[in-house]
Amino acid sequence: MSRMSMLTLVLLSLASSSLGREWEVIEDRRNPHRSLEIAQGTWKEIPGGPHRRVRPPRTRPATRDDDTTQGLIEQFGYPVETHTVTTADGYIIDMHRIPYGLSGPGEGPRIPVLLQHGLLCSSADWVISGPESGLGFLLADEGYDVWLGNVRGNTYGRRHVSLSPGDDDFWTFSWDQMGELDLPAMLDKMLEVTGQDKFHYAGHSMGTIMFWVMSDMRPEYRDHFLSMHAMGPVSRVDHMMSPIAIIAPWVDEIQWLLEMLGLHEFLPSSAFMDLLASLVCDDWSLPAVCSSILFLLCGFDEAQLNETMLPLILSHTPAGTSTQNLVHFAQEVNAEKFQHYDWGKDGNLEHYGQEEPPEYDLSKVNAAVFLYWGQNDWLAAPDDVQWLSEQLHSLIGNFRVDFDDWNHLDFLWGIDAKILVYDKLIEMMKLFDP
Ligand SMILES: *[C@@H]1O[C@H](CO)[C@@H](O)[C@H](O)[C@H]1NC(C)=O
Repeated sequence: MSRMSMLTLVLLSLASSSLGREWEVIEDRRNPHRSLEIAQGTWKEIPGGPHRRVRPPRTRPATRDDDTTQGLIEQFGYPVETHTVTTADGYIIDMHRIPYGLSGPGEGPRIPVLLQHGLLCSSADWVISGPESGLGFLLADEGYDVWLGNVRGNTYGRRHVSLSPGDDDFWTFSWDQMGELDLPAMLDKMLEVTGQDKFHYAGHSMGTIMFWVMSDMRPEYRDHFLSMHAMGPVSRVDHMMSPIAIIAPWVDEIQWLLEMLGLHEFLPSSAFMDLLASLVCDDWSLPAVCSSILFLLCGFDEAQLNETMLPLILSHTPAGTSTQNLVHFAQEVNAEKFQHYDWGKDGNLEHYGQEEPPEYDLSKVNAAVFLYWGQNDWLAAPDDVQWLSEQLHSLIGNFRVDFDDWNHLDFLWGIDAKILVYDKLIEMMKLFDP
């Protein structure tokens, strides 16, 4: 089949965009009585967590210092720390920490929470929308010790003990390594600094993949989690609506792909941006959104997008990754499996001792898992989330966001993210506090 006819097929399948049936399974295997309560209400009807103390008014400093996660957190008057970790293979990554909030419980030990961002994003995701609706701030004000993770290759992960981003080898990674090496390095830092042994985890998109990968590859870390909250959870991507599916047919034609996506660091060419824009931008009223690779790949939901926040969002994303990471997603589209990166036959023999990349074993996940998904999510399509939910042996809650157009990025910056997702997430998290 020629490239053009393959492209046409992909376009047609994108255009027809028939989404899976609506479904909602809610269960709590530990406490059936509780699950009934959850099942009977919609999210909005369940009152949000305990009453919060009124926070003293804050004024913005005259000069904005919001070009880093640390600056953003400081700007809102919250305490912030930066901790640097080195992975087993030499990547040097900054994590950010909001050790306590401005309201909520004052004394006593705080339970650490790790918030892990997704593809092309960074620790800034969780604080861009400010103290009223940023999950990082909300959790700090609820009394948690909030840690914001990053990954190799993004804004805060562009250093290495011996390589530089100018070296091709620097970019030889995908989310396999983020889950197997970056996440454990960050957990080691949290164990060391907090002196605590049990954490909550909340991840978005690729930040959920990293958790599944870690649970399979690094069993020694599995028992450190009180609960795991997966927003826009991703594993298999058979039903992915993202234009990532467009590159999928060409993953083996490396030359074409590298030209379009950037040689090693993911720096999409203008031709590729134009192609994506021509596919998805017709109905989009905001030109700024169409110039962002993040929105082009993830889609956007006009009703939930706060235009005032757009410049800030665009100044922090795309936060960078490798072309190989994108290729890994595209390989998954083709393989219809949740599996390790495919290095080709010889490479696979070298890396895995077998010709095909091994699949990840989701039954190894033993944390109490909560899934939060959107009906209109291009990356975490409802049918794929359902497949994931069937693989997880320790699934406790499975929540469809009560908003039909809820899209992938709404979990981070949606105008109603607090009401529709975070209030619920925090309520569920508290159930698993020790
Ligand atoms: C939009 O974002 C701005 C800046 O963060 C905020 O002040 C405003 O309340 C937000 N609007 C809505 C509708 O959430």
